Amino acid sequence: MDAPVIAFPAADALPADARLPEDSWSMRWLVDGAVRVWDGPGADVLSPVCTAPAGGGEPARAVVGRMPMLSGDAAMEALAAAKRAWGEGRGAWPTMRVAGRINAMERFVVGMRAQREVVVRLLMWEIGKTRKDAETEFDRTVQYIADTIEAVKELDRQSSRFVMEEGFLGQIRRSPLGVVLCMGPFNYPLNETYTTLIPALIMGNTVVSKLPRYGGLAQVPLFQAMIDAFPAGVVNVIQGDGATTVGPIMESGDVDVLAFIGTSRVANILKRQHPHPNRLRSITGLEAKNPAVVLPDADLDVAVRECVSGALSFNGQRCTAIKLVFVHEDVAESFVARFAAAVDALRAGMPWEQGAQLTPLPEDGKAARLRELVDDAVAHGARVVNAGGASLATFFRPAVVYPVTPGARLYTEEQFGPVVPVAVFRDDAEIDHFMRESEYGQQIAIFGRDPARLGALIDALANQVCRINLNSQCRRGPDTFPFTGRKDSAEGTLSVTDALRSFSIRAVVATTATDEHKQLVSDVVVGRRSRFLSTDFIF
Ligand code: G3H
Repeated sequence: MDAPVIAFPAADALPADARLPEDSWSMRWLVDGAVRVWDGPGADVLSPVCTAPAGGGEPARAVVGRMPMLSGDAAMEALAAAKRAWGEGRGAWPTMRVAGRINAMERFVVGMRAQREVVVRLLMWEIGKTRKDAETEFDRTVQYIADTIEAVKELDRQSSRFVMEEGFLGQIRRSPLGVVLCMGPFNYPLNETYTTLIPALIMGNTVVSKLPRYGGLAQVPLFQAMIDAFPAGVVNVIQGDGATTVGPIMESGDVDVLAFIGTSRVANILKRQHPHPNRLRSITGLEAKNPAVVLPDADLDVAVRECVSGALSFNGQRCTAIKLVFVHEDVAESFVARFAAAVDALRAGMPWEQGAQLTPLPEDGKAARLRELVDDAVAHGARVVNAGGASLATFFRPAVVYPVTPGARLYTEEQFGPVVPVAVFRDDAEIDHFMRESEYGQQIAIFGRDPARLGALIDALANQVCRINLNSQCRRGPDTFPFTGRKDSAEGTLSVTDALRSFSIRAVVATTATDEHKQLVSDVVVGRRSRFLSTDFIF
């Protein structure tokens, strides 16, 4: 008899470390330095985890809380608060010395750490992330903030000197851009939101953050830490329907930077809504269709291990996930057999269960959409080669689909879920061709051992993607590496240091280097008459 697809728990039989504390996150938003409880319409946030009612019955999606469905006017109130805090660039935050902004950020981290457990539990319930991965997401975000603080200090130290060039004396610093609209995704709601929010703030910008449909509630416990750390209006957080809330914000023309992690379709809508596109800087992380390539001389143990983890960590819901495996015809059968067995050995469970690797999916109707993609590939000649493809409510058992051919949707579309298409290739030129034809250009993973063949592939692909992973899966980290993509995969570059540049612009104070001007500059600096023109050195 087939193993059950997954076992959902009874509502009254949850382990103590999976239970949510009393709801203090529903219907909250943050505007102008205060948490507000929205008394307008709201929407239930349904967990991917289904629970059976106490005493028995059909499992149904648990309710994690309620999201405020803010009106356009409420969203505009948040924008107005951010604009006031920016104050045409003369607000307390944008003009604060860098050391002051670092102090505020350090205060925020202290408050943030205190909320770790509640955030982790909300991540488990809201998006089905395993406890281990939810803890990693939280800790990695805290580390990102610490690294960002160090990077800002270094940047400021470098800018604290004067330069003499062609008879000019100048000081070059980075200054903030204005009001930033930050929108993070559901799969890394904390980490990916904060990898734009934190650099935006520390460089002196003010922010409106629009939370994602799932994973938004997990950020509410951090509101108080924000209020305690930052001046009123510097960070404002809204929730609700994107078109209703973000539409008017973009149409106002008052957003200077759009930091958006999501789909290229939505990114294009948002950018078009801005009446002065030339004034808008966009930093985006969008879809990807990262392939893995298994060459005939690859170490198949390594390739199988990395492709399983690369394709199915967090159920394949990562922009960096391996979304198509190309395997050379000479090793196709042996790779596929081992890969299918390794996928079938993955353990399904609830996010809090020790050792759970596969969990239910948060997006509405996701299992049905994955089924459609599998059926389409099958109609194009592929078959499901493992014990996958079955679903129960929000859970979809990973399907390995082989051989997938160019006519199938799975060959080009991002599935963002637990389906792994495997295609066969004969000539390396087919890989180069796939990447050139693709709408995306984030990363690729290549498994092989021949330096000449790898070198040739690297040269063919380096101008098609932004990271080539040798004998290892695609990934974002370490966070000091540049994270970006070509075509519909990204705009701008994020990393600890690149993000500081993305959210700032260089501004120069310059003068002809006459004795009189040198003295004048010296008087400004020594007399501490300017916060911008300064030689302060942050230790
Ligand atoms: O969804 C995209 C994430 O940035 C991926 O990050 O490679 O560390 O999982 P990761």
